[in-house]
Amino acid sequence: MAYPTLQAAHQIQQLGATQITYGGDYNPEQWPEHVWHEDARLMQQAGVNLVSLGIFAWARLEPQPDVYDFGWLDTVMDVLYEHGVCVNLGTGTPAPPPWFSKLHPESLPVTAEGIVLAPGTRRHYSPHSRAYRAHAARFVTRLAEHYRQHPALAMWHIDNEYSCHVAECFGPEADAAYQNWLERRYKSLDALNDAWGSAFWGQVYGAWDEIAPPRRAPYMHNPANTLDWKRFSSDAWLACFEDQRAILKRITPDIPITTNFMGFNKPLDYWQWAAREDVVSNDSYPEPSDPDSPVMAAMECDLMRSLGGGKPWILMEQATSHVNWRTRNTTKRPGQMRIGSFQALARGANGIMFFQWRASKSGGEQFHGAMVPHAGTETRVFREVAQLGQELNSLHVLRRSRVHAQVAIVFDYASWWALEIEGKPSAHVRYLDGVRAFYSVLYDLNITVDFVHPEADLRRYQLVIAPHLYLVTDAAVDNITSYIEGGGALIMNFMSGIVDAHNRVQLGGYPAAFRSLLGISVEEFAPYAENQANAIITHDEEEWASSMWSDVIRLEGATPLARFRDDFYANCAAVTRHQFGMGTSYYLGTALDQSGMHWLITRVCAEIGLAPLATHAGAEIVCRSDDQHTWRFVQNHSSTPLAITLQPGEHELLGGQEHGVVTLAQYDVAIIAEATASHANG
Ligand code: GAL
Repeated sequence: MAYPTLQAAHQIQQLGATQITYGGDYNPEQWPEHVWHEDARLMQQAGVNLVSLGIFAWARLEPQPDVYDFGWLDTVMDVLYEHGVCVNLGTGTPAPPPWFSKLHPESLPVTAEGIVLAPGTRRHYSPHSRAYRAHAARFVTRLAEHYRQHPALAMWHIDNEYSCHVAECFGPEADAAYQNWLERRYKSLDALNDAWGSAFWGQVYGAWDEIAPPRRAPYMHNPANTLDWKRFSSDAWLACFEDQRAILKRITPDIPITTNFMGFNKPLDYWQWAAREDVVSNDSYPEPSDPDSPVMAAMECDLMRSLGGGKPWILMEQATSHVNWRTRNTTKRPGQMRIGSFQALARGANGIMFFQWRASKSGGEQFHGAMVPHAGTETRVFREVAQLGQELNSLHVLRRSRVHAQVAIVFDYASWWALEIEGKPSAHVRYLDGVRAFYSVLYDLNITVDFVHPEADLRRYQLVIAPHLYLVTDAAVDNITSYIEGGGALIMNFMSGIVDAHNRVQLGGYPAAFRSLLGISVEEFAPYAENQANAIITHDEEEWASSMWSDVIRLEGATPLARFRDDFYANCAAVTRHQFGMGTSYYLGTALDQSGMHWLITRVCAEIGLAPLATHAGAEIVCRSDDQHTWRFVQNHSSTPLAITLQPGEHELLGGQEHGVVTLAQYDVAIIAEATASHANG
């Protein structure tokens, strides 16, 4: 295909390398052609340089089986290209066409209760459907062949939000797929029976086809089965992604590939996914009226950066103002969308995008906010969108800079899955609550955090925190142990190191694999009743509330830093410290509130010589740097104005101020630039 009439707007393949990308989901199939031209003109006005196109367009592009209509999309792609807007082209597969669902009713998803989920919406397919996978592959091949040389094609967006709405499918094709997966994993039934401990309740399997997905049953399933089912389900979606990735890499090897993640999304092990993507991207919808939502949003940003190994990532979707899927869809106040966008940029994103460009007239999302709202462009929202576009277009200087963290939080999907399977000492121990309890104190202290896989190289971190690392592989144990031996510092808390990869409890005192490293043994768990509480008394005579849980700890070399105040284990250790090799490990045997966690973390940081950035109440501060500059992003989430005095050699990037005091009102942002020490000295 040739494009003689098109202007070479810019080298799109280098889009990410030369600019901060800016734009949103674009659904021109919902509008007549004259609107496409207006849209392209308005996109230019708003500084848009990338749109996500065709995400739900399969039915419009293949209106009947094997009959294709690419004409309208050709026009849209050409118009966008002529206006300097590049395309992140969706593969269209999250919404199979009505003809497909009619032809293949067995492809519809089925719940654990056996309810078949109807079409007429989106994500109405099972990842185990062979017909779906074959049709999707055929369609994506045609799409890629058609657009392989289109100059606007900058990136592929495979499917959309895998596992959204339907995380697991128990339909007719699930059994054989699961049995095959288990056979590949265990090789023999003896190995499976041993790993699952299936002697319990007489579950010993004599043939692969006796094993079924954990459908709704009279009582608890074997937790090893449930855990493998979760691994299998994540892999099943990944196999759908892999089908398309292979096709796209074959036809367009130079076009980067992404699929949009959903933050802390439990069903998918994003470590495995991110390794197969060229660019990590995320959809983030913090609740505007929740004053704590910036913490969770920051945590998502840090996860996304970490999933990509520190590479720039894209905030693929956020709302300009309101969504339409909460009970009350509050609006973002003036400035709130901007500060959320800068938060992502500060935490390593090189792309800021929205759902969606133009607010829909019809369909389930007709009341969702957009860059162009129903009221048009003479609106607060469009003005904020256009202002942000202009600002981002002026920030290309940042694009090669990275975020460098000295603290890592171990994040493990298998631990998340296994910890929250029923039948535990307390259903109130929730994985993300544990992660967040640590993260939010570090956030308040402006200590930037990376997330790491338990088997990743930890040596570059001054401090590693492993919240509720419930399941551990031998490789993870070795990795963490050698990190401490080599001089690292670790904080671990209760319900860590409890089971092995097959969900089998490790015997002899918890947390078996980490006992010598921590210098303790947990003899028993003492989870609290609903109205029960306790406190810990620290060795420096502070008292902090303790909730939910106590470990009854026997010291095996560790020093207690705090003891429980009450109950039959009063005066037993609640927080410990232990020297191991050249490093130090800390253990927290209960849940503390924010002030108790603050005590623990500031104490550990002081001991290991880790200094927080300056803190101001309500201010979020993160740095990006390259070998020449450091950019300090200061964001004011509070209603109290924030004053920053520029030091010699510093200037503020957005307003251009070079000396004096920069004052930030609520939701305002400053980017303070300074030459990096080595550059300034050299
Ligand atoms: C996302 C989805 C978009 C749109 C948006 C609405 O989950 O990817 O297509 O539905 O939510 O907030």
